[in-house]
Amino acid sequence: IPLRQYNTLGIDAIASLFATFTSSEELKVLIEDNPIPGKDPLILGGGSNMLFKDHVSGLVLKNEIPGLSVVKEDAGHVYVKAGAGENWHGFVQFCLKQNWAGVENLSLIPGCVGASPMQNIGAYGVEIKEVFEELEAFHIHDKEMHVFKAGDCAFGYRESVFKGKYRNQYVILNVTYRLNKVPKFNTSYGAIEQELERMGVQQVSIQAVSQAVINIRSSKLPDPAKIGNAGSFFKNPSVTADVYTQLKIQYPNIVGYSNADGTVKLAAGWLIEQSGWKGYRRGDAGVHEKQALVLVNYGNATGQEIYDLSEDVMKSVHAKFGVHLEREVNVV
Ligand code: FAD
Ligand code: EPU
Repeated sequence: IPLRQYNTLGIDAIASLFATFTSSEELKVLIEDNPIPGKDPLILGGGSNMLFKDHVSGLVLKNEIPGLSVVKEDAGHVYVKAGAGENWHGFVQFCLKQNWAGVENLSLIPGCVGASPMQNIGAYGVEIKEVFEELEAFHIHDKEMHVFKAGDCAFGYRESVFKGKYRNQYVILNVTYRLNKVPKFNTSYGAIEQELERMGVQQVSIQAVSQAVINIRSSKLPDPAKIGNAGSFFKNPSVTADVYTQLKIQYPNIVGYSNADGTVKLAAGWLIEQSGWKGYRRGDAGVHEKQALVLVNYGNATGQEIYDLSEDVMKSVHAKFGVHLEREVNVV
């Protein structure tokens, strides 16, 4: 089965076997009847954070579990349980419509609910760990359901146990989020304030913040429907305060943000741009012209070509700045 339509980078990889499931019961049957039992299936959501470097010799299972329901309410919060196959931005819009706050800064992130805890998706000063209540997941080997609370997930910057030590072991079936009845606006990210002002917003609302985020994102991130991409290809790397001070002497314009632990997170997009890659194109593989952190497929790049380009970017950033970049996308 061709996977091109199932990954936003538009890589033309082939899967030996492919199936979709809409419930945990269907999933159990598919795993038990897996005709390639030695090989764990690959779970797919919207395919917006994947690089298929090769063809997939095993079973690909696309999660399409639906559902949005309120499961609990208390004085300050509404708890919404969402099926893993729900579109993430659809869930955000659902919350905006009811005036439930907490996910407005995460508007327009592609993909599904089920992948949101995988890398603790984040944007514009907010990460899902802030609204995460719990999730239910199915273990591929012991075939049991497990409930994970926030404390079990080891959420970090673009990290969790599901991306780390439990990689490919659990299928996330649903996620329950804790939304706020009274919004706590997070407009600390400079660009949001500016955009709200430009929009002429007098009274901040979650709908206005969402629109500001959508405007900013649309101005620099390529639309996967037009140009294949998986968002940021690399993570923003952290360095010690000493290393940052040294870099700052040599490169006074370097972009860095202080982390709570004293280290400094560097803007990888800046490092890549300064290394001369912004707008670079080799065949159909390229570095986006408006955001150097995003690798793009102009049409028929292979997964290997995108991967090779990412290797060259990493080598050149390391040679110039001594900083190691780590991929954010999941390489298969
Ligand atoms: P997929 O790409 O299908 O899967 C990602 C990983 O999760 C894979 O390893 C897969 O095996 C695993 N997985 C998926 N579903 C499940 C499940 N139900 N159970 C277990 N494992 C599962 N990310 C951000 O954090 N912030 C951003 O601002 C952001 N902006 C983006 C902008 C663009 C234009 C694009 C293309 C991507 C962006 N991303 C961003 C990355 C991506 O959208 C997110 O990582 C998203 O959560 C991926 O969802 P998905 O359903 O497409 O996951
Ligand atoms: N920059 C450059 N050149 C570039 C790109 C960026 O100099 O080509 C500089 C910008 O000028 C800015 C800084 O780098 O000063 C940060 O850029 P931006 O605000 O665009 O954010 P980012 O750090 O590149 C991160 C996330 C995005 C998220 C945005 C907004 C990571 C890896 N990426 O990007 O997430 O949407 O912040 O919060 O943390 C994703 O994960 O796929 C993703 C898109």
